[in-house]
Amino acid sequence: MKAVILAGGSGTRLYPVTIATNKHFLPIYNKPMIYYPLSLVMLLGIKDVMFIVNPEDLKDFQKLFGDGSHLGMNVQYRIQKKPNGLAEGLILAEDFIGNDNICYMLGDNVFFGHDLIKIMDQARKDIQENGGAYVFGYAVKDPERFGVVEFDEKGNVLSLEEKPEKPKSNFAVVGMYFYDREAVDIAKKIKPSDRGELEITSVNEEYLKRGKLKVKLLGRGFAWFDAGTHDSFLEAGEFVATIEKKTGLMIGCIEEIAYKNKWITREQLLKLAKPLGKTEYGRYLIEQAEGEQI
Ligand code: DAU
Repeated sequence: MKAVILAGGSGTRLYPVTIATNKHFLPIYNKPMIYYPLSLVMLLGIKDVMFIVNPEDLKDFQKLFGDGSHLGMNVQYRIQKKPNGLAEGLILAEDFIGNDNICYMLGDNVFFGHDLIKIMDQARKDIQENGGAYVFGYAVKDPERFGVVEFDEKGNVLSLEEKPEKPKSNFAVVGMYFYDREAVDIAKKIKPSDRGELEITSVNEEYLKRGKLKVKLLGRGFAWFDAGTHDSFLEAGEFVATIEKKTGLMIGCIEEIAYKNKWITREQLLKLAKPLGKTEYGRYLIEQAEGEQI
C-alpha cells in the first residue's frame, strides 16, 4: 500500500493567517500540521508517500521532508496547479499509485485514539483482500461542515452527501480513506460539484453504488480534528499539548516513529536531533535515542 497526502488547497477558512503561508506548515502545538497525517501512515508501516502540493509551496515541502531518505522513506511530490478538489489528487498520483492500494489522507486532519493504528490496519487488510473503499465516520455537532454519511437501523450506509444544508445524520466522514486502484479511474470519471470541485464524496458515492464501500464508526474513544478553521485549529493544538504534557510522549513525532520502525539507526536519530538544538522536540529525540540504550 502507498500513501497520498493532500497538502494543497487555498486555506481560505484560515485567512488572514494563510494568505502568505500554507496551512499545513502551521503548528499544531509543537510541530507542523502535516506531521500528524504523515505520522499515521508511518505508523501503518507505509514508506512510500506522495504529497499533493501547490506550486508555490513545493520548495518548502522539500525543505521539510526532502526525498524522505533521512526518515528511511521514499517521499515524492506532485503539484496541483489549482485547488480543483480532493479527488483530483488521485488522478495526479496515478503513476505513483500504479497497481497498489492507497491510503489517502487529508493534510489538515489530526487523529488520536486507542487502537487507531489497529483499526487503520484492518481497513488496509480489508482492501487488500476484498478491494473497494473503506472510510470512517465520526459523530460531530456541526455535520454540515463535512461529508456526511447516513445509515439505516441495521447500520447499512444509505447515502453520502458533501456539506449538506440539512444533514441526514450527525456522522462526518473523516479525512482518512482506503481505496483499491479503481479509485483513480473513478476519480477520472466524476464531474465537478456545484462549487466546482472534484469531491472525494463523489468517489465514495460511486463505491457505495457498486456495493464496495465500507464505513466504520470511530467511537467516543477517539479524537478527530479537521484543523482547517480557526477554532478547530486551536482545539487540535490544545488537545495535543494536554496529552503530551500529561504523558511525556509526543503525538506525531515522525523521527521517533522512523526510529521505532527501525527505518533509521540510533546515530541517524541523534543526527536529526542536532539541528533542533535545545528545543523540547530536540531533547525528546535525544531521550528516545538514549532510552533504547538502557
Ligand atoms: O476533514 C474532513 C472533510 O474534508 C470531509 O468530511 C469532506 O467530505 C471533505 O470534502 C473535506 O472537506 P473540507 O472542506 O474540510 O476540505 P478542505 O478544502 O479543507 O481540504 C482538505 C485537505 O485537502 C486540506 O488539507 C487541503 C487539501 N486540498 C484541498 C483541496 C480542495 C488539496 O490538497 N487540494 C484541493 O484541491
